[in-house]
Amino acid sequence: MSLIADKASFLKQQINYEKERTTLPAGYPAFPLVPRQRYMDPAFHDLEQKYLWPRAWLLAGHLDEIPEPGCYKTWDMPGIPVIIMRTRNGEVKAFHNSCRHRGALVARQPYGRSPTLVCGYHGWSYDNDGRLIRIQSPREFAPFDLSCRSLVPVKCERLGKLIYVNFDPSSISLQEYLGPLRDEWKQYELDSLRLVHHYTWDLDCNWKVAMEGNIENYHLWNIHGDVIPPFYVKDEYGNITLYKGGHARDITACEGKVAWMRENASVDDPSDIAGLGEIAREHLESYNIFPNGLLSAGSTYHVNAPLFWPKGYDRCRFEIYHLAVDWGPGERPKIWDQVIKFYDTVFGQDNVFTDTIWGGMKSPAFDGAFLGYPESRIYHWHQSFDEFVGRENLPQDMRVEPAIGPEWIYPQDGETRARLFDRSPLTAPFGDEAP
Ligand code: FES
Repeated sequence: MSLIADKASFLKQQINYEKERTTLPAGYPAFPLVPRQRYMDPAFHDLEQKYLWPRAWLLAGHLDEIPEPGCYKTWDMPGIPVIIMRTRNGEVKAFHNSCRHRGALVARQPYGRSPTLVCGYHGWSYDNDGRLIRIQSPREFAPFDLSCRSLVPVKCERLGKLIYVNFDPSSISLQEYLGPLRDEWKQYELDSLRLVHHYTWDLDCNWKVAMEGNIENYHLWNIHGDVIPPFYVKDEYGNITLYKGGHARDITACEGKVAWMRENASVDDPSDIAGLGEIAREHLESYNIFPNGLLSAGSTYHVNAPLFWPKGYDRCRFEIYHLAVDWGPGERPKIWDQVIKFYDTVFGQDNVFTDTIWGGMKSPAFDGAFLGYPESRIYHWHQSFDEFVGRENLPQDMRVEPAIGPEWIYPQDGETRARLFDRSPLTAPFGDEAP
């Protein structure tokens, strides 16, 4: 049996195990409350601003947004203005969007294309590599080396066509940050998927309220029961894998998905993502990437990447990239209007409900989030947040207890579950191939 097939086989057993179990897995922790302050206290928001956003890898764009040399986009989602540019030779680079003269925004439009960026205040000019190439009236300055006043670079790396930035020059690489996810995602062919649609919603709630609604399936049947397709297995909340660093994967069990899609296919249906593994094809995989992103396989031909950003402690922005197999030249096929409308409905149901959650959290009776097994990804996020920012940097009453032991974190979770399935621990399936 090949490594991939063996891993798929293991995951199928795991899916069946989750269907059949009648209690929590033996030894699984009961989660202590996630403190109320982590959502409601502006001081916690300040701690995130100080210790989280400046150090984490953040998804900032897709290559199709800046397709040609000279194209750029501006971005400031964690509150730090950035320019992401294609250089003359097609590389992607990111810079702080702050003029090296007196700090004005150098680029002010969301998107643009130009061989030079000219600051609107006093006309200092930068090339696509961020180099200061010209200043107005140089005789008014003591002679200085222009190269000492280039735009300040921001660390920038790509996963396929997804562009990530990190404000910490000493951070680990994106590849290391993602760990096993990087190879599991090879099946999604992110280096060729095309940007179908990209848009944002602003919401009145803490950003984690909106994000957490997207990293648990416990609400699935209550909120989305009227729209989810019939191949979802009723009252199944998913098979969760927790990774080091706060990332996690959920495999939502489906029955007859491929057959249903074939029966309901139309001539307009997009091509499937050719590299999808058996599990991703027959079920639905969704990953959350610490701290604020998801990568979800919406179907066999579609990937969406939702993101959640703070706009203060009590407001946030929901952003989503829809990606799919390239349809070639010409306009976007009409089918995508229906697909996007469907996702607008689903995410709209989530987002409308955030008002209800946020409204109730304001009550003095809300003493914290009381989480169950299908909400493991949420607790894992909070526990990982404390590790990431350093528990010593958090007031005692804002910390979460490290309840999830290493035996529940990939790849040890495989050994634990293998024991539950009454078989020898599997080691081979936990290579880095796609399941
Ligand atoms: Fe940019 Fe003066 S602030 S040229």
